[in-house]
Amino acid sequence: MKKVLIIHGPNLNLLGQREPDVYGNINLAEINKKLTVLAVSLGVEIKIVQTNHEGEIVDAIQKAISWGDCIIINPAAYTHTSVAIRDAIASVNIPTIEVHLSNIYKREEFRQKSFIAPVTVGQISGFGENSYYLALEAASKIINAQ
Ligand code: DQA
Repeated sequence: MKKVLIIHGPNLNLLGQREPDVYGNINLAEINKKLTVLAVSLGVEIKIVQTNHEGEIVDAIQKAISWGDCIIINPAAYTHTSVAIRDAIASVNIPTIEVHLSNIYKREEFRQKSFIAPVTVGQISGFGENSYYLALEAASKIINAQ
């Protein structure tokens, strides 16, 4: 079975209580549960990681060399700052999809720049929790086309 690594970056562990007007009321456990159900129907295996630490995101991306046919990542605030995460994605040569719950282009100017987007297949931004499910469907199509 093809494998998809899903990485949730900093502060996403607080979904549900964190700025619900921006990020919605659903919590991360509920999103992960729905991703798990969707993965079964798509016939892909998923592994889900959440960390608040930049280096741990880099480690997770590197580990995907031996476990992962596709990466879905919401780098959260590191989207706008992290050369290290960008370089990790560029280094592993695994198709990667960038996800954001909010539409980062509708928000503050500092959020409108993604360091990550140029090394991804594409970005899904602004569909709330559905951004993740759309990303998993896209990942399954990318993998099956390989
Ligand atoms: C986010 C958008 C980022 O700007 C922000 O720092 C986040 C969440 C999103 O999913 O909309 O933490 O990645």
